Amino acid sequence: MKSIVIGISGGIACYKTAEIVNALVKKGHHVDVIMTANAQKFVTPLTFQTLSQNKVIADMFAPVDTWDVQHISIAKKADVFVVVPATANVIGKIAGGIADDMLTTTIMAATCRKIIAPAMNTAMWENPIVQDNLRKLRNYGYEVLDTDSGRLACGDIGAGKLLQWEKIVEIILKEKEN
Ligand SMILES: Cc1cc2nc3c(=O)[nH]c(=O)nc-3n(C[C@H](O)[C@H](O)[C@H](O)COP(=O)(O)O)c2cc1C
Repeated sequence: MKSIVIGISGGIACYKTAEIVNALVKKGHHVDVIMTANAQKFVTPLTFQTLSQNKVIADMFAPVDTWDVQHISIAKKADVFVVVPATANVIGKIAGGIADDMLTTTIMAATCRKIIAPAMNTAMWENPIVQDNLRKLRNYGYEVLDTDSGRLACGDIGAGKLLQWEKIVEIILKEKEN
């Protein structure tokens, strides 16, 4: 059984993360979900709370029942931390060392395996700033997943589509080779 943190940022592919959480829980893994404020505009925490069978962490400063500092305790117990979908914004923030919400603060405190699953419009994906940020994350040991090509939610056709969720589950559960 793995302890998996799923970080969700505000992209249209958010709804696909529900399948990922559901599949991981059904396979017997413990899942903690952290959502950015913008992710909650796409899908509500209730969906992820129900599927993860666990309280969703949606606000860094919300009162908690336990004495511990949540972003540190969650980071410590995680075997793997996955940001899915990872927006251009959250990729830029993580690469730039910004920790201004629960997702970016917890991933900064995490020393476990970290996976970034980007999803965005093709022009955003091809923006050299985004590509530089992804290169930077790879250099720091983050596993940056490929994107698929195809028809995007905005109607454009090209790269930047979230990798198939089944494939992402497979990668999460695969032991990192090094
Ligand atoms: C309908 C809609 C769809 C969006 N989809 C994406 C997306 O797929 N990828 C992305 O990087 N940003 C997308 N955005 C923009 C992000 O929501 C925006 O950059 C936001 O600041 C991200 O915040 P977060 O990274 O803190 O969650 C979308 C915005 C809207 C309104």
